[in-house]
Amino acid sequence: MPGLKMIYSIFAVLGLFLNTVLATAQAYKQLEFSNVGFTGSFTPVQKISDETSSKCTCEPGDREYFSGTNAPLSEYLSVHLRGPLKLTQFAFYVADKFIINDNSSNSGTWDRVAYYNAEKQTADNVTFTTNAGTDSPCLGKALCYAADDGVSKADSSTVLKSDNYISSDEEFSIFSSTECPKSGKNKKCGVYRKGIPAYYGFYGTTKMFLFEFEMPRETKKNSSSFSYYDLPAIWLLNDHIPRTSQYPTNGNCSCWSSGCGEYDIFEVMNGTERDRLYSTFHTFQGIENLNVGIQSYGYIERDTENTMRGGVIFDSNGSTISFISSSLSFDQNLTASSVNGLLYVADEDQVYDRKLLSVAGSATSSKQSDAFSLLTDGRGLWYYLLTIFTGLAHFIMV
Ligand SMILES: *[C@@H]1O[C@H](CO)[C@@H](O)[C@H](O)[C@H]1NC(C)=O
Ligand SMILES: *[C@@H]1O[C@H](CO)[C@@H](O)[C@H](O)[C@H]1NC(C)=O
Ligand SMILES: *[C@@H]1O[C@H](CO)[C@@H](O)[C@H](O)[C@H]1NC(C)=O
Ligand SMILES: *[C@@H]1O[C@H](CO)[C@@H](O)[C@H](O)[C@H]1NC(C)=O
Ligand SMILES: *[C@@H]1O[C@H](CO)[C@@H](O)[C@H](O)[C@H]1NC(C)=O
Ligand SMILES: *[C@@H]1O[C@H](CO)[C@@H](O)[C@H](O)[C@H]1NC(C)=O
Repeated sequence: MPGLKMIYSIFAVLGLFLNTVLATAQAYKQLEFSNVGFTGSFTPVQKISDETSSKCTCEPGDREYFSGTNAPLSEYLSVHLRGPLKLTQFAFYVADKFIINDNSSNSGTWDRVAYYNAEKQTADNVTFTTNAGTDSPCLGKALCYAADDGVSKADSSTVLKSDNYISSDEEFSIFSSTECPKSGKNKKCGVYRKGIPAYYGFYGTTKMFLFEFEMPRETKKNSSSFSYYDLPAIWLLNDHIPRTSQYPTNGNCSCWSSGCGEYDIFEVMNGTERDRLYSTFHTFQGIENLNVGIQSYGYIERDTENTMRGGVIFDSNGSTISFISSSLSFDQNLTASSVNGLLYVADEDQVYDRKLLSVAGSATSSKQSDAFSLLTDGRGLWYYLLTIFTGLAHFIMV
């Protein structure tokens, strides 16, 4: 029956085509992860020795345990930004309870507890810092107060100027204005590097970080002197990391490599895809390779011409959503329903969903997590039906 074979062939080609297209990344407004948070541990830095000499080393301390919703990202987090970027607003909110896409069980409001507005020069509960302090062979440059340009060293806490553009490779970070207790083992801020301005990051299980920013195209010419040419990013770190060393040459000089936590909200990964913003977890939940982490297959489009508004929400049920929305406001109080209103999308295909594994302990097979994500990657039933058609067509034709 050549007619039937022809139909199957068409389906086969269509199925293969859709497979190829859909298996690659796609642009979305929201990148969602569920089942975030696990029981695990990390090793804090216990001692930093010979900081400025070539003998410089660090000693890891006893394991610290964490568990529960969003752990370890339920700990204090610092905010990091890399150019080309301009920050016009930043806000941090907490809520007693908030569940993404569930209006019925939401109570109360999101309360803004930190805020920066470039134009109005408001800076409530924010401290701008950058890595421009003393250099060290094992720790890199020390954290220091940032001057109003975000990248030079200042002697005291300074508000970023309204025209705070930073270019490729340049970075600054944001902490709260609550000072840490003295450096020490078992203290809330742990052991940290001598002489740095030490502040707490931003705390809470249920929390939201919002940004109004620009990520314009880099105007400088590319050269091998850049590490991150035209690769802007906004990300969160367990605040212990930058207080010891953000870019150590010895993994023992930061709790990062033992999995104390990083979440990339909007990150350009490479020069080939420089207008795509990905979200990635760098924790040991369901994976062994912390460097690769668990990355969204989908991405948010980087708008190089206009101001973007968006951020990330960690909800009370272990869902995390990175999102972009032009209707976002930075009011003192935001009702749960208004925030869920922002997240509402008529077209379900615009929500990218990837489930993380629940793991007790520190790591599990990465193979397992791949198989799991295949079933929960939110591609929709029709995609799988077409895959089945492809298979059927091959079977009949052979
Ligand atoms: C909470 O998260 C679980 C697992 O991710 C999900 O199955 C459940 O529907 C969520 N509950 C609500 C109220 O959204
Ligand atoms: C609004 O937010 C502030 C903190 O920014 C909080 O103190 C206040 O209680 C909130 N108001 C309401 C009605 O939730
Ligand atoms: C500033 O933020 C920190 C960290 O989340 C929080 O503990 C503190 O209460 C905030 N301070 C004010 C004045 O809101
Ligand atoms: C910049 O140059 C580096 C090599 O030095 C290359 O890897 C990268 O892709 C280039 N970026 C762009 C955006 O062309
Ligand atoms: C890190 O610390 C561990 C445990 O103390 C030690 O075995 C290892 O050699 C150290 N690594 C480096 C690069 O110093
Ligand atoms: C660029 O990054 C994306 C997202 O991680 C990845 O899929 C792609 O393979 C990368 N491209 C190159 C050339 O490394």
